[in-house]
Amino acid sequence: MGTKFNRSVLIKLLLLQCLSVLSEAQDSDFFYFVQQVTDTSMSEAQDFDFFYFVQQWPGSYCDTSQSCCYPTTGKPPSDFGIHGLWPNYKNGSYPSYCDPDNPYDESEISDLISSMQENWASLSCPSNNGSTFWSHEWEKHGTCSESVLDQHGYFQAALKLKSKVDLLQILQSAGINPDGRNYTVSVIASAIRDGIGYTPWIACNVDVAGNRQLYEVYVCVDTSGSSLIECPVFPQGDGKCTSSVEFPAF
Ligand SMILES: *[C@@H]1O[C@H](CO)[C@@H](O)[C@H](O)[C@H]1NC(C)=O
Ligand SMILES: *[C@@H]1O[C@H](CO)[C@@H](O)[C@H](O)[C@H]1NC(C)=O
Ligand SMILES: *[C@@H]1O[C@H](CO)[C@@H](O)[C@H](O)[C@H]1NC(C)=O
Repeated sequence: MGTKFNRSVLIKLLLLQCLSVLSEAQDSDFFYFVQQVTDTSMSEAQDFDFFYFVQQWPGSYCDTSQSCCYPTTGKPPSDFGIHGLWPNYKNGSYPSYCDPDNPYDESEISDLISSMQENWASLSCPSNNGSTFWSHEWEKHGTCSESVLDQHGYFQAALKLKSKVDLLQILQSAGINPDGRNYTVSVIASAIRDGIGYTPWIACNVDVAGNRQLYEVYVCVDTSGSSLIECPVFPQGDGKCTSSVEFPAF
């Protein structure tokens, strides 16, 4: 929780206790008032509206002109990997680098590292053990939700979401396989929506031959980092997809 949950919040809570003694508890106006005061306190403390949970297809990261480097721990699984869990505002903009005083500390997440190597693999060059990627994600995005999730909670929330949103399994069950063939983006999106119950947003990129391909899938998550929600707003831009895109092998 930290410093934001400060004296003014405590004063409000004390005030509420006094009021609750004076008030009839079943008075709905009273509950409305409690809700208003509590909402104000909480929005000061959390300072974002929802998360984007973003997964990427490694085949589409690696077959670009920029190419990729496998992590020092070896080639990642042939599965979607986590890109990030990003706090966002309903107006479409997002906070970043919110707390330089809370740097990435791998000792807080040592129990999660093997799962992160499997599910949140780094593909950037030069080849590295993943720490560069994870520290970037924490410092740019994670620090902006630190009122809700500490460092361990943040990485763990993303890993839990990854197992909840099993994109490859959902797509393969719908006959959409990473086989280098073209698939209709609206069919991909419908399969994911049917699989998770919420509408995803899809981003594409371009391979060395200039073909558009399935690159990233965004879903939205409530401020606790645990429940999927319908996206309050989709990312700006059109995601660079054509109506039909390749799903390359990895
Ligand atoms: C979006 O909302 C946030 C939080 O209320 C605010 O800080 C930010 O300035 C807004 N950005 C734009 C572009 O309106
Ligand atoms: C990764 O390498 C960095 C040094 O480059 C080291 O500090 C860190 O402990 C390593 N982490 C893992 C998980 O191997
Ligand atoms: C996918 O579609 C693009 C654009 O129509 C085309 O250039 C490409 O050859 C197709 N790929 C396959 C594997 O059919």
